[in-house]
Amino acid sequence: MVGQERPSLSMAGVAEQIVPVTLGERSYDIVLHPGLLATVGDRLSALTTSPKIGVVTDRHVASRYLQGTLRSLCKAGYDPTPIILPPGERTKTLGTIAKILDALARHKFERQSLLLALGGGVIGDVTGFAAAIYQRGIPFVQVPTTLVAQVDSSVGGKTGVDHRLGKNLIGAFYQPRAVLIDPLTLRTLPRREWIAGLAEVIKYGIIADEEFFAFLEQEIPALLKLEEEPVIHAITRSCEIKAQVVAADERESDRRRILNYGHTIGHALESLAGYRGLIHGEAVGIGLVQEADLACHMGLCGREVVERISSLVQRAGLSERVSQTSFTSLWGAMQHDKKVVGGRVIGVWPVRIGEVVIRPIEQPVCAAWFQSKHGRGSRPSSGRQPGTHPVRRKARARR
Ligand SMILES: NC(=O)c1ccc[n+]([C@@H]2O[C@H](COP(=O)([O-])OP(=O)(O)OC[C@H]3O[C@@H](n4cnc5c(N)ncnc54)[C@H](O)[C@@H]3O)[C@@H](O)[C@H]2O)c1
Ligand SMILES: [Zn+2]
Repeated sequence: MVGQERPSLSMAGVAEQIVPVTLGERSYDIVLHPGLLATVGDRLSALTTSPKIGVVTDRHVASRYLQGTLRSLCKAGYDPTPIILPPGERTKTLGTIAKILDALARHKFERQSLLLALGGGVIGDVTGFAAAIYQRGIPFVQVPTTLVAQVDSSVGGKTGVDHRLGKNLIGAFYQPRAVLIDPLTLRTLPRREWIAGLAEVIKYGIIADEEFFAFLEQEIPALLKLEEEPVIHAITRSCEIKAQVVAADERESDRRRILNYGHTIGHALESLAGYRGLIHGEAVGIGLVQEADLACHMGLCGREVVERISSLVQRAGLSERVSQTSFTSLWGAMQHDKKVVGGRVIGVWPVRIGEVVIRPIEQPVCAAWFQSKHGRGSRPSSGRQPGTHPVRRKARARR
């Protein structure tokens, strides 16, 4: 699973970037610096008074980055305890949380002891949730090692695990004390994970920043080659946009919903695929294009907006096509998103590149759009209650 190291990301001499996340007493910094992992120990001194640090990671990441992290922590005078979990979404369970809590209790972790999440979004989500509930909350720091985690999951304080009946059903809002990003870790990321992460990066351009979108249009070949400057800029700008949105609306009452652009259809497709086949970012890539197309159908944006998004998504190596599904299945899956209020799907729609609006969508409108695209099998469902379609097996709520 772990990819071959690609040499193009050298980044020697790149300046440290700091993005503040302003949330009153829960404020923290996102720090980005190539090679940061070697100095992680020194960066924790302001964040905890306890020598005990729990380093939660998965086997793939541990084989590459655990020894260096432990060395840095020991050098700075800490007493680290590694907690190594199996890789992958299946680790996001309450059982894993119990294991982490057992380890913390066994090693006599106290209120000031700190947890460090070294890994992708799965590790960040479970570590944050364990930190939120151990002794009613201990400090934690995110050290994200995937593109998805560096631009999205490590920032904003959503933590949690999946339930048998739904993804991310159990969790807490709990902010980290810092997010420490070492982009050099991306050198070993499997290419498929890298490309999937680009979907989230493109999303930020569409929802908030046309200039950034234009930068991505220009630099996509360089990003695919992991060239240092565009990679650093893409991560930093994505973090800035996420930080701004989260600071305006920490608990997703309204404004934060814009981060869900591409995810209404994206999550539905992931769920219909049974969380196999498509990885999250790949589903979001399709969602970015299809939701723009739906916005155009509703008269909210022009065709040129759809075409720009579609072109960038394809050039990034992502698909834009909905694989064979009926409208009934798709609408049923869309109904199970957390963005559903009173039976109406609350969508996020581009009006131009860099600006989106939040609006509910009714079933007949979505059905007419689907039919215009796919024809066959696209008639609106005839009275079946949302959620009772047999294709729906899993996942009721996601972020
Ligand atoms: N909390 C949030 O706001 C938020 C936002 C988006 C996604 N998420 C969650 O994040 C998870 C997905 O995160 P992800 O895409 O990072 O997946 P992941 O954590 O499963 O990591 C993907 C794979 O890459 C491996 N890996 C990680 N870093 C590596 C590296 N540097 N080199 C080589 N291999 C490496 C991992 O071992 C794993 O096999 C989902 O559970 C999703 O729900 C949370
Ligand atoms: Zn996402």
